Amino acid sequence: MKIALIGYGKMGHEIAQIALERGHEIVCTIDINEENKFTSPQFKSAEVAIEFTSPGSAMHNYRQAFAAGVAVVSGTTGWLEQLDEIRDACDKRGHTFFYASNFSLGVYIFTALNNYLAKIMNQFPGYDVQMEETHHIHKLDAPSGTAITLAEGILEKIERKSKWALNKSDAPDELQIKAFREGEVPGIHSVIYESEADIIRITHDAKNRKGLALGAVLAAEYTKGKKGFMTMQDMLGIL
Ligand SMILES: NC(=O)c1ccc[n+]([C@@H]2O[C@H](COP(=O)([O-])OP(=O)(O)OC[C@H]3O[C@@H](n4cnc5c(N)ncnc54)[C@H](O)[C@@H]3O)[C@@H](O)[C@H]2O)c1
Repeated sequence: MKIALIGYGKMGHEIAQIALERGHEIVCTIDINEENKFTSPQFKSAEVAIEFTSPGSAMHNYRQAFAAGVAVVSGTTGWLEQLDEIRDACDKRGHTFFYASNFSLGVYIFTALNNYLAKIMNQFPGYDVQMEETHHIHKLDAPSGTAITLAEGILEKIERKSKWALNKSDAPDELQIKAFREGEVPGIHSVIYESEADIIRITHDAKNRKGLALGAVLAAEYTKGKKGFMTMQDMLGIL
């Protein structure tokens, strides 16, 4: 496929490498202050743009790609309060958009495990639940998009929790998420259930960014010939 990259940072570079290994062509890269490239013939020739930038620029980039008639796969986190506008653009104007707060297969499996465990733990009020996430010091948003997705899965199943809270929790109905920023950690997520007797902990620990980048390229391949809003559930369907 002809792929454009919006954001050529850590993820952009990993994705470029995997896309080339899988026989794709990178027709355009757009990083910060390269706005003019959105109207270039190279960008318009792309079948899909893979977007990994920053929370504040993602929406603008999606609009620019849609205006150029290019499908978007995005992994940028921290913009989801504007999700409805993107869903609308897909439903009403026929755009193509694939979103995942985490593109790794391992995290997808971990999410399924988290949802199943939460369903079980709803029956055991003697256990309180909290979450921890650790990422590299350059990460702009907290908690991570992945932590929010995991938290939403827990809140849906555990009736004694009604909302998540970052780093401190004053109320028993709050699900506390502790966010740590350390060195160059690619991403660790833990869900911890604790009673007076014991602790049940599940953890996903990313060894590098390869799984994330591969997932984004597979998602780009999946969008070919499709319209609408898509997620990992559509592509993998195993949850
Ligand atoms: N969904 C996932 O699986 C997943 C995985 C890793 C990272 N992320 C998220 O993806 C985003 C990027 O992560 P990263 O590790 O590559 O960060 P990074 O800082 O290494 O790279 C971001 C790049 O985007 C560029 N950029 C910033 N504003 C831009 C704009 N307006 N137009 C074009 N380019 C712009 C920056 O110059 C930089 O090169 C973050 O939001 C991060 O949380 C998601």
